[in-house]
Amino acid sequence: MPIYLDHAATTPLRREVLDAMLPYLGGIFGNPSSTHAYGRAAREALDDAHDRLARSIRAEAREIVFTSGGTEASNLAIKGAAWAGRARGARLVTSAVEHHAVGHTLQYLEKFGFEVVEVPVDRYGRVDPADVEAAINERTILVAVMLANNEVGTIQPIEEIARRVRTHRGVLLHVDAVQAAPWVDLDVQALGADFVALGAHKAEGPKGTGALWIRKGTHILAQQHGGSQERHRRAGTEDVAGAVGMARAFELVAAERNATAPRVRALRDRLAEAVTAVDGVELTGHETERLPHILSVVARNVDGGSVTVALDLEGIAASTGSACTSGSTEVSHVLAAMGYPEDEARGAVRLSLGRTTTDAEIDQAATVVPAILRRLSEASLRTPSIEHAEAARA
Ligand SMILES: Cc1ncc(COP(=O)(O)O)c(C=O)c1O
Repeated sequence: MPIYLDHAATTPLRREVLDAMLPYLGGIFGNPSSTHAYGRAAREALDDAHDRLARSIRAEAREIVFTSGGTEASNLAIKGAAWAGRARGARLVTSAVEHHAVGHTLQYLEKFGFEVVEVPVDRYGRVDPADVEAAINERTILVAVMLANNEVGTIQPIEEIARRVRTHRGVLLHVDAVQAAPWVDLDVQALGADFVALGAHKAEGPKGTGALWIRKGTHILAQQHGGSQERHRRAGTEDVAGAVGMARAFELVAAERNATAPRVRALRDRLAEAVTAVDGVELTGHETERLPHILSVVARNVDGGSVTVALDLEGIAASTGSACTSGSTEVSHVLAAMGYPEDEARGAVRLSLGRTTTDAEIDQAATVVPAILRRLSEASLRTPSIEHAEAARA
């Protein structure tokens, strides 16, 4: 099997998580809203999943709403808070490097008269909390800044942003922690936000399951209507197996993080050293304030898409950036916001490790990746681009 270095896109389902889910994909199939024994068994598992997931992020069970993933969690927070706060104002503040789950949701709200203000980032992808505060005015109802970026791994100073947001009465803070949650010790109380979006599949949990943490007492309007599930905040019969799996995955992550994160960081740093030793290859994102599992680079004169194709042929699965944008010809909005011109951003490659990544895999990758980068870079220098050829003719 190829070496999997795309854990930022998704992770494999962990055996213990699958084992925890299996009873709810089999015999315990009741609807948690049914009052008979089948329903009660499902309800018990669902309540327990709320409890366990809440404990893993130091929250209360009733603050958790299970969703179909991180995307739905951010949609619920942003649209739910925007519509609930519409009478007070219509200004929404965000960063320039959000995942599309946040960015496109905000863009959608612009069609309904909401004003979206994007705060810039520096060369390393960091937002300045003072810029966030400066963007807040009396019409502002929500700020949305991610905990860590999925393409370059840069961690944002959320506690400081939260401290400043809190000084403006009535302004809520949404934090997309989908990529960060498995890797940072997440204490939602200490973080200071009002909403935190989580996803199971970045933490060796099932795809199609996520959760939104909503601070107790925070009012939102539901975005999906029907039954009274999830305390009227998300209608629809709950995915009990998914919730059980997510809670188990987050419990395991929380229990093992102190051992997993430094080990993965050391492997990532070893790979980073080998990759950035190649001429023209530069690390993107913050050097220290970054998630431990993401190595992102830009390679001069090389197309990131060609690198991932060559890596695939050599048995390494990697990506050019966000899985959601791969396949599109657009360059990353994250690198653009960080000030990379289009031709440099086209050389983006992301290698992301996971708990199951081994020393031997990194040994292999530390040989193969630099060799491919050198080969493609030399090939591109031998084959001048059309612009080069035209410039030479002129
Ligand atoms: C930062 C971030 N936000 C949101 C998402 C979307 O989460 P999901 O795939 O669970 O909908 C992802 C995953 O790609 C992500 O990395």
